[in-house]
Amino acid sequence: MLKKIIIIFLLLLVVISLYRLFYKVKDSSHSITIKTTETKSAWVGPSHFQIPLHTNKKGELIQYGYELIAHTALYLGPKGSVQHSTNGMNCQNCHLEAGTKPWGLNYGSVFSTYPKFRERSGSIETIYKRVNDCMERSLNGKALDTGSKEMKAIYAYIEWLGADLPKSKKVNGSGIEILPYLSSPANPSQGKIVYIQNCQKCHGVNGEGVLDSTGKMYTYPPLWGKHSYNDAAGMYQISKLAGFIKNNMPNGINYHTPTLTAQASWDVAAYINAQSRPTKDKSKDWPVLATKPIDYPFGPYADNFSEAQHKFGPFEPIASSRKKNQ
Ligand code: HEC
Ligand code: HEC
Repeated sequence: MLKKIIIIFLLLLVVISLYRLFYKVKDSSHSITIKTTETKSAWVGPSHFQIPLHTNKKGELIQYGYELIAHTALYLGPKGSVQHSTNGMNCQNCHLEAGTKPWGLNYGSVFSTYPKFRERSGSIETIYKRVNDCMERSLNGKALDTGSKEMKAIYAYIEWLGADLPKSKKVNGSGIEILPYLSSPANPSQGKIVYIQNCQKCHGVNGEGVLDSTGKMYTYPPLWGKHSYNDAAGMYQISKLAGFIKNNMPNGINYHTPTLTAQASWDVAAYINAQSRPTKDKSKDWPVLATKPIDYPFGPYADNFSEAQHKFGPFEPIASSRKKNQ
C-alpha cells in the first residue's frame, strides 16, 4: 500500500515538474525584445477614469469638462441639452481620447504654456480664448461665455490633465506632428483615390459623416460640407490636417502604426481641403503678415509665392526664403 502511495506521489511530482517546465519554455518564447527608433517617449495624460470624482465639487466639474469634450454635441450641438451653438461635432473627434492620445491633438502642453502670445490674433491668449477659437472655427459655432459652467468645466478638465507639468514645459506628443515637406505640390486627384480606398466607408461619399441612431452625435464626423470645421480652423492648414491623418487615421491606428505614407497623407489632406465648407471672417487674423504660417491658404502674403503654392506646396522654397529674410 505504502509503496503504491509513494509511486503515485512520485508520478505526480514528475507531472508537475514537466508542466512547469513546459510553461517556462512557452513564457520565454513570449518574451519580446523592444526595438524602437523613438528617442523620447510620448506624454499620455491621466485617463478620465482617474478623475477624483466624489471627493469634492472640483471632481464633478472636471468630470463635466471631460463629458463636454468627449460628447460635446449632446450638450452644445444642434440637438444639445444646454444650448444649440455648434455644428454637432465633438471636441474629441479631433482631440482624440479627450486630448490624451499622443500626436492626436493632445492637450498635454495647454495648461503649462497658456496664457501665451499667439500670432493669429496678435494678442496674449488665455485658455478660455483658445477654447473659444475652436468653438468658433473647428465647431463653426458661437463662443461660450467665460463665466458659464461649461467653460469653467472645460478649463478644469484641461487644468487637471496638465497640472503636473512645470510651467512652459512642452511635452512630446502634444498637438500635431508636422510631416516633412514634399518636393512637389500635394495632389488632390491622387488624394481622392486615397480617400475612396481608405476613408469613404466611414466618412461618406460626400465627406458628410454618419450620425448615430439618436441623431444627436456623429459616429463618423464630417470632413467637409456645412457641418464641418470652417475655413478659419487649424485643420484648414494642410500641414496640420496631413499630420493628424498620418498618425491617427483610418481611426484606430496610432503614431507607431501608421498605414498611410506621408505622400498619401498630404494628398488626401489636399483633397479634403479642396472641398467646400463654411466660411468665417478672417480679416483680423495674422495682423503681422510675415507671421502667417506658410500653408495658410489665403493671401495677402509678405512674400511673392502664389496662393496656390501656399495652399498645396511645395513648401520648402517658401520656408527657405523665409529663413533667408530673417
Ligand atoms: C475639427 C477639429 C477640431 C475640433 C472639433 C476641435 N479642435 Fe481644438 N484644435 C484643433 C486644431 C487643428 C488645433 C491647433 C493645433 C496646433 O496648432 O498644433 C486645436 C487647438 C486647440 C487648443 C490649443 C492646443 C495647444 O496645444 O495649443 C485647445 C485648448 C483646443 N483646441 C480646445 C478645443 C475644444 C475645447 C474643442 C471643443 C469645444 C475643440 N478644441 C474642438 C482642431 C479641433
Ligand atoms: C473605421 C472608420 C474610419 C475610417 C476608415 C477613417 N476614419 Fe477618420 N474618423 C473616424 C472617427 C470615428 C473619427 C472621430 C474619432 C473620435 O471621435 O474618437 C474620425 C475623425 C477624423 C478626423 C477629425 C474630425 C473631423 O471630422 O474633421 C479627420 C480629419 C479624419 N477622421 C480623416 C480621415 C481620413 C483622411 C481617413 C482616411 C485616410 C479616415 N479619416 C478614415 C473614423 C474613421
